[in-house]
Amino acid sequence: MSAPTLLILYGSQTGTAQDTAERIGRQAQRRRMQVRVEALDIYNVANLISETLVVFVCSTTGQGDPPDNMKNFWRFVFRKSLPAGSLCRLDYAVLGLGDSSYPRFNFVAKKLHKRLMQLGASVLLPVGLADDQHDLGADGVIDPWITSFWEKVLSLYPPPAGQSPIRDDEPLVLPPRYVFQFVDDVTENVADRLRVPQQPISPSPTHPFLAKVVFNERVTKASHFQDVRHIEFDITGSSIEFTAGDVVLMRPSNTRENVEQFCQLLRLDPDRQFTLSPTNSATCSIPARLAQPCTVRCLAETFLDIAAVPRRSFFELLATFATDEREREKLAEFSSAQGQDELHSYCNRPRRTALEVLTDFPHTTAELSVDYLLDLFPEIQPRSFSIASSLQAHPNRIQILLAVVQYKTKMYLPRKGLCSSWLASLDPRLGDVFVPLWVKKGSMKFPKDPETPVVMVGPGTGVAPFRAALQERIAQGKTANVLFFGCRSQSKDFYCSAEWEEMVKAGQLTLFTAFSRDQEDKIYVQQRVKEQAVLLWDLIVNKNAYFYIAGNAKQMPTAVCDALKEGFRSQGGMSSSQADEMLVAMERAGRFQSETWS
Ligand code: 2AM
Repeated sequence: MSAPTLLILYGSQTGTAQDTAERIGRQAQRRRMQVRVEALDIYNVANLISETLVVFVCSTTGQGDPPDNMKNFWRFVFRKSLPAGSLCRLDYAVLGLGDSSYPRFNFVAKKLHKRLMQLGASVLLPVGLADDQHDLGADGVIDPWITSFWEKVLSLYPPPAGQSPIRDDEPLVLPPRYVFQFVDDVTENVADRLRVPQQPISPSPTHPFLAKVVFNERVTKASHFQDVRHIEFDITGSSIEFTAGDVVLMRPSNTRENVEQFCQLLRLDPDRQFTLSPTNSATCSIPARLAQPCTVRCLAETFLDIAAVPRRSFFELLATFATDEREREKLAEFSSAQGQDELHSYCNRPRRTALEVLTDFPHTTAELSVDYLLDLFPEIQPRSFSIASSLQAHPNRIQILLAVVQYKTKMYLPRKGLCSSWLASLDPRLGDVFVPLWVKKGSMKFPKDPETPVVMVGPGTGVAPFRAALQERIAQGKTANVLFFGCRSQSKDFYCSAEWEEMVKAGQLTLFTAFSRDQEDKIYVQQRVKEQAVLLWDLIVNKNAYFYIAGNAKQMPTAVCDALKEGFRSQGGMSSSQADEMLVAMERAGRFQSETWS
């Protein structure tokens, strides 16, 4: 039997699942199979009923949630009205990408697999459960899983006699997704078009609102190790609305130096303008947020993620341009399954950027065709920040608390986070600066009843959504608020302290602080939670309080939960399992909510 078209559907938050899906797609092309690779929410899910061979590559985000680009699919596939045998023609495989240091490891992949079984589909091989904690080298889960997948598929659909696959060490030359047409006679300055504030009806990823930065100041002492910023955006005229717990999203731009270096390496004139046309308009459309025509500078600055650590597919594509023997061999090694440990040491461990890789492979870079730029570099991904203010306290404003990411690796230049460094560099005192942004609903919800107390644990910038909640709740006259805040030192990084003080004085807030490094032994928020067992028991059991945790320390939420459960045991005379059950019951009722990020 000849093989059916292989459909590869991905749900990807940061691009890893997409990259893996596309890699499986290229392997299918090497095996001369018909293949389509699509994001789950682009795919018309009603067609699933007639599919016969599908691979799902799905990551799990946050607390076990599906990525944004599979949320519609997720809702559809779990509809109760779907009949049990509706997918009985389908053979499928699920590859999950997760991180075992977060709760509900690979929850999305496992749950999808169960649901597909329920709907009558047949699984080809066990679900692949890749782990970000230790799946970057050659000995990980992904490559062996893909190998088993091909063994299974080729046993079901053996290739016709005489048709051999394209070998892995032969370059697979595919047409680019777009062709560039340079326009040399366009007079309008399109780069400026992006800078003009516009007033979209409802700002979205493709039509963000250009919000003016009106405030950007460091809130930690210069002597503190970390630069934390309080940044304020003016959203007047945007129609943006949000409530406490919601998040603001934005895409950073590349630095001017990086853009210049990129243009030099590729011998491109940054001011040259071009239009894009897709080579296959059925599968690919022009990115809506790219102006047409667009300058090379604008593309490099706002679209191509040249400062990210490149993925394996970057090396695979780069290898197809290599003519220099040494560079070709190295790139082939980095593209191969056996070369993944080597690639990890070269690229991931020192956090080498795509731009730095290009400088390491100058001959190959000189051969690059501009048409492949959008295949080579992923699009800059939006970053999300918990909104730290309320519209009731600060109308027409969005405020965030931003920790500027900077760290050292084996490389001699310190590494900087693209988005946080970019935001920190925007100085409203030097002229008007605009940031394209939009908002989305967050997962945290606060109680409507004015009598219901909230207990919030937010060390560091984890306090951001709680600052929004406090402003909102106080504006609504809700004064039963408890906050546990932790930082390193009362004198260096106790930001917003004046605001808390005012609230405490006004009887609107009960505050507990943990300054981890102001004494010899570290004190963390979980210790304060433990100390307040009597108060917390009363609030939770007698007053029906809601309990929240937010922050970026991976171990913190578990430690806080343990402290809370210890209180349940001591105050309520509960056994361990009863305390566990109590927390689960609170979570089910929406009375325990947590949000963590890294
Ligand atoms: P540390 O950096 O001194 O270890 C905000 O970042 C605060 O959270 C800091 O005081 C930090 O302390 C603290 N923190 C770090 N790890 C934590 C953990 N596992 N649990 C609770 N707080 C933690």
